[in-house]
Amino acid sequence: MASLMEFTIKSGNPEKQRTACLALGVYESRRMTRAAELFDRATNGYLSNLLRRGDLEGKPEQSLLLLNVPGSLVERVLLVGCGRERDLDDRRFRQIAAHAAAALQQTGATEASIYLAELPVKGREVPWKIRQLVEAVETSSYHFDQFKSKQDPPRRPLRKIMLNVPSRRDLASGEQALHEGVAIAGGVKLTKDLGNAPPNLCTPTWLAEQAQTLASEFPALQVTVLEEVDLEQLGMGALLAVSRGSAQPAKLIRLDYRHGTAAQKPHVLVGKGVTFDSGGISLKPGEGMDEMKYDMCGAASVFGALRACAELQLPLNVIGLIPAVENMPGGRATRPGDIVTSLSGQTVEILNTDAEGRLILCDALTYIERDYPATVIDIATLTGACIIALGRHPHGLFSNHPPLAHALEAAGQAASDRVWELPLWEDYQEGLDSNFADMANVAGNRDGGAIMAACFLSRFAKKFHWAHLDIAGTAWKTGKTKGATGRPVPLLAQYLLDRAVDAGWRYESAAD
Ligand code: BES
Ligand code: MN
Ligand code: ZN
Repeated sequence: MASLMEFTIKSGNPEKQRTACLALGVYESRRMTRAAELFDRATNGYLSNLLRRGDLEGKPEQSLLLLNVPGSLVERVLLVGCGRERDLDDRRFRQIAAHAAAALQQTGATEASIYLAELPVKGREVPWKIRQLVEAVETSSYHFDQFKSKQDPPRRPLRKIMLNVPSRRDLASGEQALHEGVAIAGGVKLTKDLGNAPPNLCTPTWLAEQAQTLASEFPALQVTVLEEVDLEQLGMGALLAVSRGSAQPAKLIRLDYRHGTAAQKPHVLVGKGVTFDSGGISLKPGEGMDEMKYDMCGAASVFGALRACAELQLPLNVIGLIPAVENMPGGRATRPGDIVTSLSGQTVEILNTDAEGRLILCDALTYIERDYPATVIDIATLTGACIIALGRHPHGLFSNHPPLAHALEAAGQAASDRVWELPLWEDYQEGLDSNFADMANVAGNRDGGAIMAACFLSRFAKKFHWAHLDIAGTAWKTGKTKGATGRPVPLLAQYLLDRAVDAGWRYESAAD
């Protein structure tokens, strides 16, 4: 379900607002932002007095809630620490936005007017700040408690947010950014909900049903589900080998978004949809195995990106393709040493049944050749090695087409959902040699594991411009704050937005 939060863009002075809560910034050390200054003047120096007394330093992550400020029209003022003005970069702004949103949720106010889009952030304009604020508010209000028998929503949740832009000239671009931000946040929320769902509920069949639900919400989306008999008939021996040990039937889910001209080639997003990865016969160790419910986060991000795309009505043709399987051990399961024939005709010796993502993706990649795609991006929680290489901040990026890699790098920067490119050199390929088949599904050692997985996929992506995103480190958080992140929906949505702009799209022309 989409968010219930209602956002509006406004331009006006803070002292004139009638709202339940004003959020104003204060820099370190105790220096007021422009909005805080205006409010201070209207309240006879109430804020400057308080800052002089030392009640708020203005450090990031600090805030102070004031009630019934004399001479003001508002019930509450939340002062938000912004750190030093000259240190205000992307990271700091996102930190301030997240903290402000979390603090606002605690106030008991159901509406708030936020004056943070005026903060000067190096290299960023108002629209980026609006999008970040929307993202932060939506993140702070996200709960996944449908499986708790007692749900405790905040007594009076935030419902209405006014985002203030510095001048009337910013209103149009602010509205556009709001529209984009809400669409992206809606996609992020869907992706989190799917990712967090437990694996006894979230099976390939359930994912196919979720695709139907999404399509019924957006008429521009159409769903086709290929069943195991269809996959056998096509010859998807690699995909079917992964699902063999499971009681859950495999599905190949196809979502078609058609809002471009017939001549426009489709952009394709392929999402790894392993609803639970036990490792199969090459069984994983027990510790943390529950987190392998997140092995369908690539698939979930395809749902989320298509949702954002459909909500924005981008004039593009986009295909979402989701090979969905469960990887389990069992008497019928694929064994290490088995040789299968992929849809491409290339044979694969499966040396490790835990390297299953590449096996389902390779058949999906071959399948999509017949749609003559403009670009193909696969998104997969593919390798633990990617986490070792890059940590948990950027997505791993691989591509056979430098302009596509650059477009994804640019989209990641713009959306603050960044990628880092790793090499896909021919030198690595011989690592996949097999004595018995055209290739093995893993290399003989652990060197460059994320690269070797990408090398495997590249053998099935020779007929189109292709990029691979390894999201093993970025799709979910472990530990106390365990949960899906909704990444890389902001990146993918931005990539599609950029393609729409290339095709001449303007927000004004799309407005109803
Ligand atoms: N889904 C896992 C990758 C993974 C592991 C993502 C942990 C996030 C956290 C994938 O299917 C897998 O098991 N990969 C193996 C490959 C190996 C057998 C070559 C891995 O990374 O260990
Ligand atoms: Mn695995
Ligand atoms: Zn996996």
